[in-house]
Amino acid sequence: MAEPVTALNRRRLLAGGAAAAVTAVVGPAGPAGSSTSAAVRGAPTSGTVPAGQGASIPGTAPAGPGASPAGAATAPADGSAVEPFHGPHQAGVATAPQAHAVFVGLDLRKGVGREEVSRMMRLLTDDARRLTQGRAALADTEPELAALPARLTVTFGFGPGLFGAVGRDGRRPASVAPLPTFKIDKLEKRWSGGDLLIQLCADDPLTLAHALRMIVKDARSFTRVRWTQRGFRRAAHAQQRGTTQRNVMGQLDGTVNPVPGTPEFDRAVWVQEQGGWLSGGTTLVLRRIRAEMETWDAADVVAKEFTVGRRLADGAPLTGGREHDEPDFDKLTAAGFPVISEYAHIRRARVADPNLRIMRRVYNYDEGVTADGKADSGLLFASYQADITRQFVPVQERLAEADLLNEWTTPIGSAVFAVPPGCGPDGWIGESLLS
Ligand code: HEM
Repeated sequence: MAEPVTALNRRRLLAGGAAAAVTAVVGPAGPAGSSTSAAVRGAPTSGTVPAGQGASIPGTAPAGPGASPAGAATAPADGSAVEPFHGPHQAGVATAPQAHAVFVGLDLRKGVGREEVSRMMRLLTDDARRLTQGRAALADTEPELAALPARLTVTFGFGPGLFGAVGRDGRRPASVAPLPTFKIDKLEKRWSGGDLLIQLCADDPLTLAHALRMIVKDARSFTRVRWTQRGFRRAAHAQQRGTTQRNVMGQLDGTVNPVPGTPEFDRAVWVQEQGGWLSGGTTLVLRRIRAEMETWDAADVVAKEFTVGRRLADGAPLTGGREHDEPDFDKLTAAGFPVISEYAHIRRARVADPNLRIMRRVYNYDEGVTADGKADSGLLFASYQADITRQFVPVQERLAEADLLNEWTTPIGSAVFAVPPGCGPDGWIGESLLS
């Protein structure tokens, strides 16, 4: 059983992350730790406590009935709703997407190896286990902000560079490597790569900001932040759970996707290699794709629908019916042309075998407007699959080769990660690789 992270030993765990940065981290963490309320310090480390109960923070309403893990999927997004932290898989993949997300890519500092990464992951797991259950992190400087978890999930991923640094290159899944170059790519370094991913999602942006700060604070003596990408979907209360979201281009996005809880989802998304360290985990490809909104605005509805192969109003395929009806790719117009173009996005992206589909958990981004009033927005295209080479790459290759949507979309960032399996109350994320 791993030694639990406590207020006392977290200083030891933090110290010696990377020699140069130790003082920067221990400085603020020390006083914060000692000023944390007794209730918080005494909180149990198990993450199964409903929101607010473990930390006894004044002014915190205890979690309502909807906060039980079993009810999480249908619970109203009322701030106290909790997503379970422990389990065979990390939360934040099969979890019904929350309204807000932040993805942070970090690089290991020079000299940080297996021992340091193990310490860091124990610390970060402890933070995540507390914060996701509505309890303050140890050394939380604003413990009141932890009281409403708003379905917070924290998901960790390991980039290709981490494996060598921790002396485990032999265990790097072959597909967790930089992607091939696609001719549509205009990748920028500031949105690409990274040794470690921290993905945080929640229905409340303040919860997210707090969790981000607490967790990155504990990572910073071991890592440097390479990029931060913020994304959003419809506000938690705006639509019924289960409604397909619209992206910034106005399309219903997510119609054809593996459905959590089905055997197809399990086969497509979770690594199932018996006894392998990544078994129960998955892989993530995160692409930042700019939407060329100025020229997209100039296209009319017919052109926009022809590009994707679906109607804008209701997401139904152009061959008729409703959103979830099967498209008829053989149907021809009176003039003998395919109703759904040979180059329509849904035809090019289609994967016939449901066991080989990618799972898209897409967020929008919007960085405001430029000085001349133009949009800076697009998609944080997060794709989870058991194997990047078998599942993601062939789809991306077909799209890069010919997809009408390419006219209006530009990939500007790209990163890949192995997402380790989940853990139990005594474990930590990454243990199966690092210990
Ligand atoms: C900004 C970029 C993109 C936009 C705006 C976009 C938009 C859409 C839309 C509107 C649909 C139809 C509704 C649905 O099933 O979700 C769709 C389907 C799909 N997209 Fe994309 N997409 C983008 C990039 C990508 C990329 C990069 C990939 C993979 C490499 C991809 C893979 C898929 C797949 C697999 C489907 C389902 C196809 C089917 O079987 O019907 N998309 N996308």
